[in-house]
Amino acid sequence: MRVALGVGGGIAAYKAAELARALLDRGATVQVIMTDAALEFVTPLTFAALTGRKVITSLFSNRGADEVLSSAVEHIHVAQDNDALLVAPATADLLAKFAHGLAGDFLTTTYLAFTGRVILAPAMNTNMWLHAATQANLDVLRGRGHTVIEPETGLLACGTSGPGRLAEPGRIADEVVRLLMARHGLAGETVLLTAGPTQEALDPVRYISNRSSGKMGYALAEAAALRGARVILVSGPANLPVPAGVELVRVKTALEMRDAVMGRLEEATIVIKAAAVADYHLREVPAEKTKKTASGWMLSLEPTPDILAEVGRNKGDRLLVGFAAETQNLEAEGRRKLEAKNCDMVVANLVGQEGTGFESDSNAVTLVMRTGANVAVPRGSKRVIAERILDQVMTLRQAPGRTS
Ligand SMILES: Cc1cc2nc3c(=O)[nH]c(=O)nc-3n(C[C@H](O)[C@H](O)[C@H](O)COP(=O)(O)O)c2cc1C
Repeated sequence: MRVALGVGGGIAAYKAAELARALLDRGATVQVIMTDAALEFVTPLTFAALTGRKVITSLFSNRGADEVLSSAVEHIHVAQDNDALLVAPATADLLAKFAHGLAGDFLTTTYLAFTGRVILAPAMNTNMWLHAATQANLDVLRGRGHTVIEPETGLLACGTSGPGRLAEPGRIADEVVRLLMARHGLAGETVLLTAGPTQEALDPVRYISNRSSGKMGYALAEAAALRGARVILVSGPANLPVPAGVELVRVKTALEMRDAVMGRLEEATIVIKAAAVADYHLREVPAEKTKKTASGWMLSLEPTPDILAEVGRNKGDRLLVGFAAETQNLEAEGRRKLEAKNCDMVVANLVGQEGTGFESDSNAVTLVMRTGANVAVPRGSKRVIAERILDQVMTLRQAPGRTS
């Protein structure tokens, strides 16, 4: 567990020393980066003595050109060499810089170069914390999938009382360990995922489909791969980049999706069906384009195979997650589907509302669990929702009494 600890220029900078200690106690290596403002509050010596490593205080350190050329550029090296970038205290200024991509010093430059888990522990005066600018910046950062460890409420250094006090260092360190463990928690699993809509041909040039963009399924694929799973993504037509390390199987119709899923089921230990599969199709597709006539066009559609139910019947020891897009009675419909299809979890989401559902970048869902619990996941980016779904998948994976 390798943690880069960025220390911002706030009163709580002194608590970052205790935090470094708590991380070391939990088996992490800690590379401290201090901003110029942080140096006004505490000295690098404290952190160097605690961590046994040189503390980074400047983008343009005293390195000569030879040293830069003979080794990796240091901020890139730090970005590549750590599993988590933890910033504590994350000042209002740092949150703004991260949100807007400014890269004027070592810490902000490292942030941009960093692809691992970002964890922010803000601390500031209550009004600064509650300010619309700070909250908007936090929304942006949460939307990128970063974890924000909320400050605690209490007496602040400025003499006022309210939210803004840095979370207790032991709590921050525990959260970092939990998140980093979760990151590799799907190692050894093969996740078979479906995503996107299907297209059902009406003739050689026309089809019926639905509004699914595939964003939720692709976000799940990316998050599962980052947690160490092998991911097979069976995707209907979606115009999205394929996440790194994910094996893509392209399909068009519900029948093709069914064949692809059943054909790969043996390999899977976890099946997540996020695709919006067409419920109806035309069984006999005419070979020629249907002409436009004044009398109209009557279509007789037949139900497509129920892939979720078929996987449920052949589930074996696998964990099965279904999706239910509903316009009403979210939890009741989710639970009905869970029972009927032999699922372990149903991700129920409201569609037909702004900011949730098919084409949106964000979503709000209820996770209907086979344990009887309903877990509400508030509105967030689909990437954040994907993380919460996988958290619950991992909880079920570890729970005894998995049904088969
Ligand atoms: C005594 C003092 C205490 C401060 N405490 C905080 C604080 O707790 N949180 C914060 O966001 N800013 C605080 N500030 C303001 C920051 O130091 C200032 O915004 C600085 O530019 C932040 O630098 P950074 O981006 O390196 O963190 C404080 C300033 C002073 C003079």
